[in-house]
Order: sequence, then C-alpha cells, then structure tokens
Amino acid sequence: MQQQKTLIAAAIAAMDKAYAPYSKFHVGAAILAADGKIHSGCNVENAAYPVGNCAEASAISAMVLAGQSKILAIAVAGAGDELCTPCGGCRQRIREFAEPETPILICDTKGLRYTTTLAELLPLSFGPDNLS
Ligand code: THU
Repeated sequence: MQQQKTLIAAAIAAMDKAYAPYSKFHVGAAILAADGKIHSGCNVENAAYPVGNCAEASAISAMVLAGQSKILAIAVAGAGDELCTPCGGCRQRIREFAEPETPILICDTKGLRYTTTLAELLPLSFGPDNLS
C-alpha cells in the first residue's frame, strides 16, 4: 500500500541524516502514528559511546514531541547483509507505544526486506499494562 511505501521511503531517507562517525553504520527509522503522520529519526552517536541514540529512539522522540503516543507501524532501515532489526533496547522502547501485532518493517537502502511484528521480536513482553 502507498502508506507503507511512504513509511519505508522515510526510514531510508532518515539514514542519510545519521550522525554515526564511529560505527559508520547509518540507521533510519520512521513511525506511522495514530494521527496518520510519519515521524522519523536517525542514530546519533557520541564520543562517549554508550550515550549514543538509536534511530528508533529518535523517531519515538519525534513522535512524542508531535503529541502522539501510538505506533501503528514502524520501518527501520540499515545497510548490510544482515537484517537491520531493532536492538533489544529499542524493542522495549517500541513496546511502550505499540501492540503485539504492530508491524515492524525491516528495510535496507533498496526497500523492504522483511516484515515482522513486535510480538515476534519481543515475546512475553513487559509493558504499560503490567503496571495498571
Ligand atoms: N542502531 C540503531 O540505530 N538502531 C538499532 O536498533 C540497532 C543499532 C545504531 C546504534 C549505533 O549508532 C549503530 O547503529 C551501530 O550499532
């Protein structure tokens, strides 16, 4: 669908903006939020390595800044032979704003490579409902 293509294109475009002088590994992420808008982010590294941000975290910040708190779908784009799946920490970050069946679109510079869900990447997850 067109919306999915737009989401994937936004994630790939965000790769170009990455600040990744240490790893040289550019990652882009794009979230389709409940308002129908797309919120993008890129990885932002730091000379103090652990302080860097993943692309997914940046996209979530952009979404929250826009007043949104529901991820309908998220695309993550990164180069390389391996699928650029979200790291463990980002799976939990996505969990905060998504449902188990929320699609996660894994992309490279050419487009979509693999479609998965949050439940597949983070089974038996701990989320906001655990605290209610
Ligand atoms: N990275 C992301 O942006 N998202 C992920 O889910 C995996 C890793 C970034 C962090 C770091 O800047 C670079 O990729 C190499 O690990």
